[in-house]
Amino acid sequence: MEDTELKSLLEKHMYYEYLQLPERLSERLGLQNISDYKGVLPRYRLIRSFIWERPLKKVVNIGGNCGFFSLSLLDEDLIEEAVIYDIKPDILELGRKIARAMGLEDRCSFVEKSIDLAALDELPSTDGVIYQNVLHHAGDYFDKDLVAEIGWEKYAERFLKKLRAKYAYGILGMGFKWNKPKLWDVDKEKRRFIFRNLLEKSGWEIISDANVYSLMIDGGELDYRRFNSQKDTYDFKKSDLASLWDLVSFNIIKRAGIFLGSRQTSMRDISPAVAQMGQEIAKMYHIYLME
Ligand SMILES: C[S@@+](CC[C@H](N)C(=O)[O-])C[C@H]1O[C@@H](n2cnc3c(N)ncnc32)[C@H](O)[C@@H]1O
Repeated sequence: MEDTELKSLLEKHMYYEYLQLPERLSERLGLQNISDYKGVLPRYRLIRSFIWERPLKKVVNIGGNCGFFSLSLLDEDLIEEAVIYDIKPDILELGRKIARAMGLEDRCSFVEKSIDLAALDELPSTDGVIYQNVLHHAGDYFDKDLVAEIGWEKYAERFLKKLRAKYAYGILGMGFKWNKPKLWDVDKEKRRFIFRNLLEKSGWEIISDANVYSLMIDGGELDYRRFNSQKDTYDFKKSDLASLWDLVSFNIIKRAGIFLGSRQTSMRDISPAVAQMGQEIAKMYHIYLME
């Protein structure tokens, strides 16, 4: 596919919050999604600093979307191979196109598959796993019956133990939103700390624990060693209703932006409120680098 064709295809998706382009392609096409309110770019900079020093050759990327994290690591030769799993065929196809445009198609595969607890057994054993922002959806999007039966906490422990048995390194993203994870009967303020215990109980050593908002506002080098403190957190004393209101208005403004034509103008230009609310929401997200 010619660059001009790829660029116009990607421009159509630039409202999509998870679509970021690996740096080399972004520069080549002169295209960047600057409305990074999910903190994709700063998360990558943190992960890269961790992987730089570790001998990972092959990774499995569950819920990998259009492959930004895997493709960026491949392009920088920080890993040699990646398998990306997701449930969205159109997004996977976009990922394949991006990989082809970068000449990385022989080093990665995009697989349409829902990864639930049982499916973990079928995954290839590789050096590491990247699993960001999916586990808090268990009970909603997958394994509904099992989570309803045993509760989210027991479910997550089983999941994390299986990952631990299979992978030497883990990169895990979690959102502790007002209503997520579902069926986890634990106060919002305590969730983060209980989740750390859960990781440790499952056999993982937490090397780095970073709040995504902290990564977004940090002006310096995102060295993973700087983000290993339990203090890196934000009080979330908002009521459930106020949090729900944040989420609803965020989505209304976002959709209005798409409707108004975010292809020409970034969401941030259309409404600073989106970026600001996006950052509020980012305070509830964490990333764990583990071995
Ligand atoms: C919240 S997005 C996160 C995207 C990316 N991992 C990130 O953190 O930037 C969740 C992604 O996981 C995918 N997903 C949801 N449930 C899944 C499942 N059971 N198996 C594989 N992918 C799943 C969704 O399609 C989506 O692309």
